[in-house]
Amino acid sequence: MAIEKAFFRQVMGRFATGVTVVTTRSQQVLGGLTVNSFCSVSLNPPLVLICIDNNSNTLALLRESKIFAVNMLTNEQKEYSRCFATNSQGRFDRFCNAAYHTAVTGAPVLDDVLAFIDARIIAEYPGGDHAIFIGQVEAMGTAGEISYVNNEGQELPTEDESQQTGSVQTALEGEPLLYFEGQYRHMATFYREPSIIGARTDNVEEATGGR
Ligand SMILES: Cc1cc2nc3c(=O)[nH]c(=O)nc-3n(C[C@H](O)[C@H](O)[C@H](O)COP(=O)(O)O)c2cc1C
Repeated sequence: MAIEKAFFRQVMGRFATGVTVVTTRSQQVLGGLTVNSFCSVSLNPPLVLICIDNNSNTLALLRESKIFAVNMLTNEQKEYSRCFATNSQGRFDRFCNAAYHTAVTGAPVLDDVLAFIDARIIAEYPGGDHAIFIGQVEAMGTAGEISYVNNEGQELPTEDESQQTGSVQTALEGEPLLYFEGQYRHMATFYREPSIIGARTDNVEEATGGR
């Protein structure tokens, strides 16, 4: 059984993910933990999910507050990932020294993250030794700015509509922090075509502007 568990981890570790810090706040109590079991569920209505260990100390706060923010980390923010995954004084007393602001729900949105989702919990399901939370997106943004507010239950605008209203900001600033095989990774800036033999030099020239 122990070997199966380890192998399951190993297999799942081959699925590369980004790294997020899920934050919440109930009254004046702040909480946050590192999470990579995060994905989108539905576009209309906009829903996301996170899976939280049944033994997590943050679980009670999430259930109480019924809100969370998903903070997608840049590759400059590995320290947040480390800090929010450990039981340190700095985490519990000083919120990992993270500067934050709020969007709609009041959950802390960490400054300078790659992107964020601000959500209200609308459902919780049992998921073995984890709890699955479904969050309805109330705000989201990139580069720390609110780009969409859904406080009247509106649907997400289509890409065309958003270009007209300018309500969805799509510019990517910074690069994501990645996690693969239990290790933090950087993203390669350019994709290298795998099967075109002889084209590699051309790609490199293209990527570097031919220098
Ligand atoms: C890259 C990474 C991803 C993680 N993903 C999750 C996750 O999806 N769900 C979870 O419950 N814990 C996850 N963890 C572990 C928690 O962050 C860690 O156990 C944390 O200390 C829990 O804190 P708490 O018990 O105070 O809530 C992850 C840790 C790391 C380093």
